Amino acid sequence: MTLGKRRERERVLSGIQPTGSGSHLGNYLGAIRHWVQMQDDFDAFYFIPDMHAITVVHDPAALHRRTRETVAELVACGLDPSRCTLFVQSQVPEHAQLAWVLGCITGYGEANRMTQFKDKSARGELGAATVGLFTYPILQAADILLYQADRVPVGEDQKQHLELTRDLAQRFNARFGPTFTVPAAYIATTAERLTDLQEPHRKMSKSLPPGGTIYLQDDPKVLTKKIRSAVTDMGREVVVGPDKPGITNLIGIHAALTGQSTQEVERAYAGKGYGEFKADVAAALVATLEPIQTRFREIVADPGELDRILGVGADKAEEVASATLATAFDRVGFLPRARGAQ
Ligand code: TYM
Repeated sequence: MTLGKRRERERVLSGIQPTGSGSHLGNYLGAIRHWVQMQDDFDAFYFIPDMHAITVVHDPAALHRRTRETVAELVACGLDPSRCTLFVQSQVPEHAQLAWVLGCITGYGEANRMTQFKDKSARGELGAATVGLFTYPILQAADILLYQADRVPVGEDQKQHLELTRDLAQRFNARFGPTFTVPAAYIATTAERLTDLQEPHRKMSKSLPPGGTIYLQDDPKVLTKKIRSAVTDMGREVVVGPDKPGITNLIGIHAALTGQSTQEVERAYAGKGYGEFKADVAAALVATLEPIQTRFREIVADPGELDRILGVGADKAEEVASATLATAFDRVGFLPRARGAQ
């Protein structure tokens, strides 16, 4: 459902956190490569949720640096600031403002069911979990609803957050009148959930040890070594299966990198062993990532240009966000401010 003016193109919105040692292959195959494909067919908004990055203990200098680097990575991967709106969350204050309103229609039990919070706090790896981490999915709902996004291209791990967003949009619309577009998730069919190379039962993530995570900035030698030492399973057949999580993951990576289906990959490696398969996965990976790395180095060397791109993006984003926020504030009964009063 799209509210307000009919738009020529559907709108997409998505975001990637500026945390850890850079974006990883799960981010790229599960999300970023789709963002690149979508920027012409959709009115595309992509952003860096830096406010989400402070829900865990963080280093301010690293966040500052990583925010620019994440933008540089996105541009190196193919996002073109003249064909999409690229911005940083904290530069558009409407996100925090709408999050407050949405928090007031979210049940405590509903927020408590979010599995990412449960996983992270239960692992205890973050020290004491904060209220910010708990309410983070509500901020994410605000991120999406402010832009009246029709679709949200994300990896499978974000599905539950998308469902909360849809519930909140429907609840708000039912209670206060039509205000928000109810967005649909757009989840890739291959590589929607890459797993760790060393612990193939766990999602590939910035918070796991680097040996099992492929970073977009890993040197080709490191990439090859990581694939070569990826945990594989019993047997030697290159086939997908619940008892073969390591090989299944590598087949997903190969398929996504080469634009094939997993069945095509299985057929191509029938009768061949893990060694040959892994060598080909590594080669496909290096072929994809090397040009991205070269572009990244050029782009990140010009922070002034990155800041300019983000300034333009924040202005475009704020135009849309402020209109939605004004409607939402009006719907809940907030009195509008008289501008320029003496
Ligand atoms: P983040 O920064 O963890 O991840 C960015 C994108 O990468 C996808 N992804 C994966 N896909 C496949 N396999 C994996 N192992 C893998 N790991 C990550 C994620 O699904 C995501 O699409 N909460 C979000 C950021 C966010 C957001 C938003 C996204 C904030 N507000 C509004 C969409 C719309 C997050 O932490 O993503």
